[in-house]
Amino acid sequence: MSETPDIVSPLSSGQNAADNRISLSEEGELAALRKTNVALESRNYELREQVRQLRLQNAAAESQRDQHKREIKKLRDELDSYRSPPLVLGTIESVLDENHAVVRSTTGPQFLSRISEHLTSTKGLVPGAQCAMHLQSFTVVDILPPRYDMQVEAMEILDAPLVTYDDIGGLDEQKQLLRESIELPLKSPRLFEAVGIEPPKGVLMFGPPGTGKTLLAKAVAHHTKATFIHVVGSELVQKYIGEGARLVRELFQMARERAPAIVFIDEIDAIGASRTHDAYSAGDHEVNRTLMQLLAELDGFDNRGDVKIIGATNRHDILDKALLRPGRFDRIIEFPLPDAKGRKVILEIHTKKMNLRKTVSLEEIAGQTEGMNGSELMAVCVEAGMNAIRKRRTMINQEDFAKALASVKSGRTGIVMQQPDAMYS
Ligand SMILES: Nc1ncnc2c1ncn2[C@@H]1O[C@H](COP(=O)(O)OP(=O)(O)OP(=O)(O)O)[C@@H](O)[C@H]1O
Ligand SMILES: [Mg+2]
Repeated sequence: MSETPDIVSPLSSGQNAADNRISLSEEGELAALRKTNVALESRNYELREQVRQLRLQNAAAESQRDQHKREIKKLRDELDSYRSPPLVLGTIESVLDENHAVVRSTTGPQFLSRISEHLTSTKGLVPGAQCAMHLQSFTVVDILPPRYDMQVEAMEILDAPLVTYDDIGGLDEQKQLLRESIELPLKSPRLFEAVGIEPPKGVLMFGPPGTGKTLLAKAVAHHTKATFIHVVGSELVQKYIGEGARLVRELFQMARERAPAIVFIDEIDAIGASRTHDAYSAGDHEVNRTLMQLLAELDGFDNRGDVKIIGATNRHDILDKALLRPGRFDRIIEFPLPDAKGRKVILEIHTKKMNLRKTVSLEEIAGQTEGMNGSELMAVCVEAGMNAIRKRRTMINQEDFAKALASVKSGRTGIVMQQPDAMYS
């Protein structure tokens, strides 16, 4: 207030110096000015007061802002900690409203979960989507991009195996049947249309162990340009309810998307064994469910669709009847133990790179290996090579083969357990 210039003083001094010549009207003017002055001063005071108040308010707001900033940082940190692993994976079953969803955790139970407000995008928030949930609160904190389970993704064979049809001894008929049923429909579907028959959808290979079933499937994978998906039946047996069926569904979905495709299910008896009506364990139920999904998938795809299926088993007798009916596996191919001719070819294949003496007669060995399967014949060849190495020789002779034969044969019978004599006496 004190620094306000006194606008009255010069006027008043001028007033004092002059005499009574000042007219009444001037005096009135003076009074009005004084009044204005007072008003202005009080206005000035008011404004200053306002400025002070605003400054105070500003300081308060600034301190509040800082406080909020700190709070935001704290919340962000907390949010990050929610997002940081380990998170529980689950599947959205239904979305109730903006903030709530029913989620089935992969560990089994269902939850009514809160949906985090900080989801980067709610686009994928649909039933069936995979989501990540906080470990304790089970709040949905993230939606996983729609892709197949890593396990399914890994089943696709990207590097073709090195096995070719020429590496398989004998089995000419089997090779022919498989190529006709799998390769031909993929390569020339028109042929089947012209003839007016539905191309086979799949084949089932069965036979004793070591007779070349997996080997032939590898050769198909080597020769085909189609996507080759390899799965072992036991991989589809899962711990949690519905997981096996989901894998089967995703497997075929992936095959359809990447068609032309061949799905090879090795050791299919792991899930394809006859369903038991008295399945009393949860595990049996789960395997049954997985099989049902497989049956549905086999029916599901369009006949001329480009997805073919190859199954392999050595227990075709225990497979479920539904799996064996025509229309699921159209052709059932038996892989018998090789005959003498077949055994000779298999021996030739496995000794192709070996340094054999001229005197070695593979025909003779083939004659002596009655009842042996392909893998045992391979073992005989490897063992013969080892016998030569033991003698520090690089050439393999007939005697090496004779010894190898004896040891492989004894190996087959040698696994019979010795009966303990004195255990119960
Ligand atoms: N016809 C064959 N020609 C050449 N090698 C063979 C033949 N059959 C089997 N073998 C040899 O035996 C090995 C095992 O064969 P493969 O894995 O195909 O048996 P499998 O029929 O699938 O047996 P399993 O039913 O036990 O799975 C092959 O890696 C191969 O070295
Ligand atoms: Mg096999």
